Amino acid sequence: MIAGKRILLGVTGGIAAYKAAYLLREFQKSGASVRVIMTPSATRFIGIETFSSLSRHEVAVEVFNQQAPGDSWTKHIQWGDWADIFVIAPCTANTLAKIVHGESDNMLTSTVLAARCPILLCPTMDGEMYESPAVAENLQKARDLGFYVLEPESGYLASGLEAAGRLPKSENILEESSKIIDKHAIQGPLTGKQVLVTAGPTREFFDPVRFISNPSTGKMGIAMADAARLLGGNVALLHGPVTAEIPDRLNTESFVSADELFEKVKSRLDADVVIMAAAVSDFKAAKTNSQKVKKKNASLTLEMSPNPDILEWLGEQKKPGQILIGFAMETEDLIKNAKSKLDQKNLDWICANSLSEGGAGFGSDTNKITLLGKNFEESFTGTKQEVANQILEKIFPE
Ligand code: CTP
Repeated sequence: MIAGKRILLGVTGGIAAYKAAYLLREFQKSGASVRVIMTPSATRFIGIETFSSLSRHEVAVEVFNQQAPGDSWTKHIQWGDWADIFVIAPCTANTLAKIVHGESDNMLTSTVLAARCPILLCPTMDGEMYESPAVAENLQKARDLGFYVLEPESGYLASGLEAAGRLPKSENILEESSKIIDKHAIQGPLTGKQVLVTAGPTREFFDPVRFISNPSTGKMGIAMADAARLLGGNVALLHGPVTAEIPDRLNTESFVSADELFEKVKSRLDADVVIMAAAVSDFKAAKTNSQKVKKKNASLTLEMSPNPDILEWLGEQKKPGQILIGFAMETEDLIKNAKSKLDQKNLDWICANSLSEGGAGFGSDTNKITLLGKNFEESFTGTKQEVANQILEKIFPE
């Protein structure tokens, strides 16, 4: 399964570099996100802009002197951590030689050393070069070092010769990448499951500069998303304007208002597990002003209208086998109120969170949560990540 996966595409300086643009499109059509790293010599065969336009992301070439603001020379570490697979297609004899000898003279070779994901090499070169003893030895060495190698196809080469050395068809590279990703996927109780997690506050604007919101930082929801990923889930995190840092390894989409979140949730109704950790505003302004309201004209009363209760709606639509997990944020009668939300919203589980508890609640790094299910009650304390891991391990035992 390539959908939702993150693919780092390495392009080196061979004539087949132009084919990498088609390969990128094929990965995207299958639902993957792609980032591209080029060697400096690849830029002589195809433009950086081709790949930045297609991937809708900056392209990494140099370790130093990147132009983009906020850029850093540690991109080889970050991108290596981000990817589910690093596919180097085409991989020239020169880059192959560097890789098997552990060289790190450019962004691509540095990322090869830093990456912890599987790496697929697609050696592509002239037939005579491919058959040379040195290339054959380097390919064997690459396999011995744990790299995956997809043999080139035979056919008409740029040199005019008919021989082995062509970049395999995009569909073959896709199929091979998919197999490798599956092989390396985390095996856990959520493997193969689509998990939708919402996190953070909503903002209900009533003029272009003012809104109703709450102090949610998104920390707990982000921790739940990462906990689900660690159990093997294919996680999509929908997040509001959070202040907590979101790890690059999560697939994310942002929202601002409750209505916007509702639309995004509706488009993902096939999720096997839904974790609603977002602090959704129950109200929005009855009327929004397109211009800033001047204080001398403003009424001191803000008229409100209700927002949809997204979780309750999900409870009404619940498909067989789907697991719904809610959160309850209370200041009094924690268990009683949480239990009534569990029933009223047709949930399988609810995480009861007391705002009056020390070391818990908005912005705190730690939390105390009581997990409630049908005839089940257990409390967990620790950092938000520890609590999130414990909750999901309890709900989804090995
Ligand atoms: N929730 C939702 N849509 C809303 C409000 C809440 O989906 N409009 C979800 C939250 O994400 C949470 C659960 O419902 O998982 C409970 O939210 P909470 O704010 O604790 O309770 P409410 O249902 O809003 O009830 P009340 O404000 O009366 O406590």
